[in-house]
Amino acid sequence: MRKREVWSGRSVFILAAIGSAVGLGNIWRFPYIAYENGGGAFIVPYLVALLTAGIPLLFVDYAIGHKFRGSPPLAFHRLKRATESLGWWQVGICFVIGVYYAVIIAWALRYTFFSATRAWGDDAETFFLQDFLQMNADATFGLDFVPGVAWPLLAIWVVVLVILALGVQRGIGAANRFFVPLLLVLFAGMVVRALTLDGAATGLDAFFRPNWSALTDSGVWIAAYGQIFFSLSVAFGIMVTYSSYLKHRTNLTGSGLVVGFSNSSFEILAGIGVFSALGFMAQAQGVGVDEVVSGGIGLAFIAFPTIVSQMPGGSLFGLLFFGSLVFAGFTSLISIIQVCVSAVEDKTGLTRVPAVLLVGGVATITSLLLFPTTTGLNTLDVVDRFANQFGIVGVALVTLVVLAWGLRRLPELQDHLNSVSSFKVGLLWRIFAGVLTPVVLGYMLISEIVDRVDEGYGDLPDALVTTFGWGVQILVIVIAVGLSFAPWGLTDAELEHTESTEAGERL
Ligand code: ALA
Repeated sequence: MRKREVWSGRSVFILAAIGSAVGLGNIWRFPYIAYENGGGAFIVPYLVALLTAGIPLLFVDYAIGHKFRGSPPLAFHRLKRATESLGWWQVGICFVIGVYYAVIIAWALRYTFFSATRAWGDDAETFFLQDFLQMNADATFGLDFVPGVAWPLLAIWVVVLVILALGVQRGIGAANRFFVPLLLVLFAGMVVRALTLDGAATGLDAFFRPNWSALTDSGVWIAAYGQIFFSLSVAFGIMVTYSSYLKHRTNLTGSGLVVGFSNSSFEILAGIGVFSALGFMAQAQGVGVDEVVSGGIGLAFIAFPTIVSQMPGGSLFGLLFFGSLVFAGFTSLISIIQVCVSAVEDKTGLTRVPAVLLVGGVATITSLLLFPTTTGLNTLDVVDRFANQFGIVGVALVTLVVLAWGLRRLPELQDHLNSVSSFKVGLLWRIFAGVLTPVVLGYMLISEIVDRVDEGYGDLPDALVTTFGWGVQILVIVIAVGLSFAPWGLTDAELEHTESTEAGERL
């Protein structure tokens, strides 16, 4: 019988879970979302979202992964045969996110090197869009290749796949042991430098100044919940997969609390660093912070290069910032692709290296075909938006409704968590996971669907939105259902055997 790989200890798992959680979402999304949604007052909905949805869902994922000891399809199959497709849906979302997430890391990698010479000159925006991405604003979609993006992308994929091929402990565990502390050092260096810049106080004032009236706006609360899911890597299979490699005697909820609060601390640190730097930029340009603030791609690849050019010693600052983006993204990408690898291993019975080659080959080719092109930026934008607001929200909602209402399995998961953990969960946890979070997710999903149907997405062409937005998300669901009917490569005994049922291993 195949033995499931295990982490050598709880600390490696916690480090890997933090590595997965702390990613691009923390550095470029959180500061902007907090600023846009009430500044200092955002901390209230954000903490409420963390405590009522983020951490409770982290516990749900841990309980499923640890109790049923499998990748999402296997764990859900063991939970109840008919729910296997939910596991595949999560795997599909990870695949979709992975193929574009790698591209942003590849950009950041190039920009780490560009920082040395400040290659973007005086006009970071033109450099990014025209010189670097060679963007073709007239075409909806094309396959015109941009080698300057493709090579670093290929390099990222090769390194990720080598790490995955080395296995859970020797590959993923070791990589996180190295990259997570390195990220902390680089990022702390970036924040300290940013805090010493002229204008930093103005930036921080803009970031933290509370707009309490924002708390009456439902959009602000939705933004807080939306940020928490992606940021904590919950509800799309990652934590199910990572916790399936834990030994039986593991304090699950205690680990979840450490991971949840570490991730949020990093986010707030990112807000401080980013807004100190934006305050400097606003002062240097003689404008208000509101005129320089941006999030996402604009923040990282246009605002930050501009800051690097304007400040003394900017090259080192650029290196710290883009290096942080690379390492933060890298440990998250590892976790995202591991979900797919683990699912293929479980379903087909393939061993690790062939599974990595199969998944990695398909992911690398898809990623290289779609994104390092002159139209790749818009494609990425659409895929990202729909994967987050439709994919993750949708799968989280359906999973929770099925678990809590369809199958009524939360009490069983609660028992499992409490049988191994120091921090016990009870009725409140069941209400958060089974009632409150599904209500919020349902509202998010419906408003997103209505908005996208009414307004499309930004000024992007409808054909692009239909194909890479709706089309990709629906295709993921169709494939997920199809795969759940495919035969397993495991024997029936292996399929039912969760190891945790072994008498000697029971607590
Ligand atoms: N949790 C990862 C991030 O924040 C996916 O980017």
